[in-house]
Amino acid sequence: MSDPGNSRDPIVTLHDLEMNFYKSRGLLKRPLAMNALHHINLTIHKGEIIVVVGESGCGKTTLANVIAGLLKPTGGTYEFKGHEIRSMSREQKNDYHNSIQMIQQDSYAALNPMRTMIKSLGDPMLLKKFADKSNLYEKVREILGTVDLTPADNFINKYPHQLSGGQRQRILIARALSMNPELILADEPVSMIDVSLRVSILNLLARLNQERNIAVLYITHDLATARYVGKSGRIVVMYLGQVVETGNVQGVLANPRHPYLQALLSAVPIPDPSLSRKRKKLTLTGADLPSISNMPSGCRFHTRCRYCKEICKEEPPKPVSRGSSMVACHRVDELPEFELFTGEKKHA
Ligand SMILES: Nc1ncnc2c1ncn2[C@@H]1O[C@H](COP(=O)(O)OP(=O)(O)O)[C@@H](O)[C@H]1O
Ligand code: SF4
Ligand SMILES: [Mg+2]
Repeated sequence: MSDPGNSRDPIVTLHDLEMNFYKSRGLLKRPLAMNALHHINLTIHKGEIIVVVGESGCGKTTLANVIAGLLKPTGGTYEFKGHEIRSMSREQKNDYHNSIQMIQQDSYAALNPMRTMIKSLGDPMLLKKFADKSNLYEKVREILGTVDLTPADNFINKYPHQLSGGQRQRILIARALSMNPELILADEPVSMIDVSLRVSILNLLARLNQERNIAVLYITHDLATARYVGKSGRIVVMYLGQVVETGNVQGVLANPRHPYLQALLSAVPIPDPSLSRKRKKLTLTGADLPSISNMPSGCRFHTRCRYCKEICKEEPPKPVSRGSSMVACHRVDELPEFELFTGEKKHA
């Protein structure tokens, strides 16, 4: 059991972090900067669960890649356990790379098709000295047991194509665990597997969080799983590379303040047709997410916001604190109180 006294220690601290991608415009023009992450301020503490929500293209994977060190931020600061990553010692860098592990969306692409599970899991463990040749087999069996792939001997010599999507996803979790991580970045880990298997994978992540105090950054476009995984955690709602609302999951989803989050919530499918009929539709005024190569001025959400006013087109809103949330909207205090169902305030 990990020390709960350390549960508030920061693992990752991002301060005003920026990530631009550059697109060439020919020899005579400067490359076009496309801003995929803007002013990201986020601290991930030991043992906590944070869910990152937003539609496809809003920057979730870019954020995970930056946190994992796969992309270098183009601005702001990034600290790992209080050390700026650009000036860490070799030992600190090693700790950083082991402590933060990613579980990708596409388990097939993430695993080498030519390698059996003992190779895929075992080689990194040997390389990083988490095992040696004498105990490797036992260690891999033990980790397979932790992710409920039992009996382990049925999986250890299989190739990725011989496993189901759910089993491959568990292998990715096992590979992450083998590095003894403090933070797991789970990037849409269940979006490509059968609906019937999703809950068990999400429960596995929750169990690892509770039993091993591993922090989890759960990334999804799906508010239903965000609510499920993040029950006791925080939520970060992203839109076009920015955080538009953040706070504790229960509070934010019970009382969403940003018009984008309100629209997302009003679009979550409800299986009961009579309830679904009573639901208020807070539609977006534009269907598609604008491109980051042609970023809207002012509030990035203004092209789709039903409450947009002139100021929204001109000035980016600053995040303000309201209740337990931080919200970036000029009109946060003027908006009508959120009702998901006609006549039933703050139902979530
Ligand atoms: N390597 C890259 N080069 C250029 N643009 C990229 C690159 N990776 C992502 N993007 C762009 O950055 C934006 C955010 O992408 P991404 O982080 O994948 O979003 P999400 O994971 O939320 O779907 C998108 O507009 C995407 O096209
Ligand atoms: S700042 Fe304006 S455009 Fe942006 S979310 Fe608020 S009301 Fe809508
Ligand atoms: Mg993504």
